[in-house]
Amino acid sequence: METNHKQLVDQYNRRLNYLRISVTDRCNLRCLYCLPCDGIPKLLHEDILTYEEILRIAGIAVRLGVEKIRLTGGEPLVRKGLCKIIPQLTGLRGLKDVALTTNGIFLKENLEKLKTGGIKRLNISLDSFKRDKYKRITGYDGLEQVLAGIDLADQMGFQPIKINVVVIKGVNDDELLDFARLSLEHPYHIRFIEYMPLGIVSSDNSLHHVPSSVIKEKLGNLGKLVLVSKTALDGPAERFRFEGAPGEIGFISPLTHHFCHTCNRLRLTASGRLRPCLLSDREEDLKGPMRKGASDSDLANIFLKTAFNKPLEHARASHDSLHFPGQMSSIGG
Ligand code: 5AD
Ligand code: SF4
Repeated sequence: METNHKQLVDQYNRRLNYLRISVTDRCNLRCLYCLPCDGIPKLLHEDILTYEEILRIAGIAVRLGVEKIRLTGGEPLVRKGLCKIIPQLTGLRGLKDVALTTNGIFLKENLEKLKTGGIKRLNISLDSFKRDKYKRITGYDGLEQVLAGIDLADQMGFQPIKINVVVIKGVNDDELLDFARLSLEHPYHIRFIEYMPLGIVSSDNSLHHVPSSVIKEKLGNLGKLVLVSKTALDGPAERFRFEGAPGEIGFISPLTHHFCHTCNRLRLTASGRLRPCLLSDREEDLKGPMRKGASDSDLANIFLKTAFNKPLEHARASHDSLHFPGQMSSIGG
């Protein structure tokens, strides 16, 4: 196998060592903050990368210096056979970490295979502890399934288990302390994410974010938050811990805190396009060239070019809205 001594670095000297792979655009939930108004047009099976193609692209990315891969969707666990490729992914030499983002509905029954495949890190979306509200946010009465998945993942030793909470004003901001308290009792990392009003695709324009600074202030009622230092492969979350707590609290603030300058990510969409920034419609096709017989070094060159041209930052349409050219469910957040 050819090795490549070139590394994915952009023109601003950011080293891109983190690849998010969306394995499907499909999802079994309909989260308020994710879907476009008139439902999602689904990609056809032949438009989606095969597992062989995903593994080939992942291999090329790792040879170019990618050290961390996250599988996302849509909902990755709705794609049949996903667990079968995980050992091949985690076995890629040079890759330090493979993680999975899931809504948790099908988590419990997949945990065994995820664990034997070598996944240690899970991000689970959970926006409410109240059954009715969970149903209102996601369109599905699945709270118990998610909680059972989290519980078993913890017992099985997955570490860390990150719980993603998209905070929406007037919807779930009354539960902030309940979420934060979990970090006092369990080794979970609770991550409060500012809701991003995604303009053209949002299904409900009446949703509003809560600034991380406001959330932080409210959490002060539970105790003192101590800063946790970041590690090399960390994403944009600011990390904290309540003194003596087993878990952590994180804040992801796409609206009120610009973290673009430290962004280390590339995204591979379900349809096989490489996207250097979530909030820019710039994409390079990998699937087309691959299906026309491109060599690994041709594909590596597309990677290098796309990486080099990663935008410095996303354009903000206004102070509290982001122009999002695409669908969160096919790009994978
Ligand atoms: N705002 C913030 N986060 C979002 N996600 C999806 N849509 C949005 C949005 N509008 C993120 C959440 C969710 C993951 C799958 O994608 O973190 O848990
Ligand atoms: Fe919800 Fe994630 Fe599915 Fe979007 S992709 S509907 S955020 S579970």
